[in-house]
Amino acid sequence: MSTVTNVHPDHFEFDEISEGEIATILAKYPPERKASGALPLLYVAQNQMKRQTGSAWVPTVAMDAVAERLEVAPIRIYEVATFYFMFNTKPIGKYHLQVCTTTSCWLRGSDDVLSACKKAAGIHNVGETSEDGLFTLSEVECLGACSNAPILQVDNDFFEDLDGPRTEALIEALKRGEYPEPGPTNGRHGAEPEGGRRVLLEETGSGQG
Ligand code: FES
Repeated sequence: MSTVTNVHPDHFEFDEISEGEIATILAKYPPERKASGALPLLYVAQNQMKRQTGSAWVPTVAMDAVAERLEVAPIRIYEVATFYFMFNTKPIGKYHLQVCTTTSCWLRGSDDVLSACKKAAGIHNVGETSEDGLFTLSEVECLGACSNAPILQVDNDFFEDLDGPRTEALIEALKRGEYPEPGPTNGRHGAEPEGGRRVLLEETGSGQG
């Protein structure tokens, strides 16, 4: 059984860091349109839970705090939080492993990435959290980084151009408390072709015309 507690807190209050972020966010909207801040404020709440509990999720009391701040009915916030996949409405592990299995990633080996995640994290099925509470595994649709498929998103970072062994190595590093550099894992620079640039190889000089 996972060590992640499934207890819903009975109280939530924005901390000082969150209050600073909320002030910045709400300054972007006219006061009568502040309900538009629902998504960013839910992120603020989720990030605060991560800071305070180690698990990035949004309990109902935090949704209520967002509703109160935006002066909308709580149901308006529940609707948003339960519609978007990026909000976790129950506790998750310290690291959220999100494997893209849509077409580009699937063609480039997402099955191997998914298997490696299960093996290295000790998870049997998608949606589960590892017994040590470190990892929750999710399968997601296209993350919009197809040029570097296959992609594993860890929390907010993309680890790209993965294969099975590199995925296992990444998860083992996370277990050791290390956090490898996000981005391509095969030596590639950005989304350039493997092996380097194939066009625009000559220096064009600094002048125009
Ligand atoms: S298909 Fe995986 S990022 Fe697009």
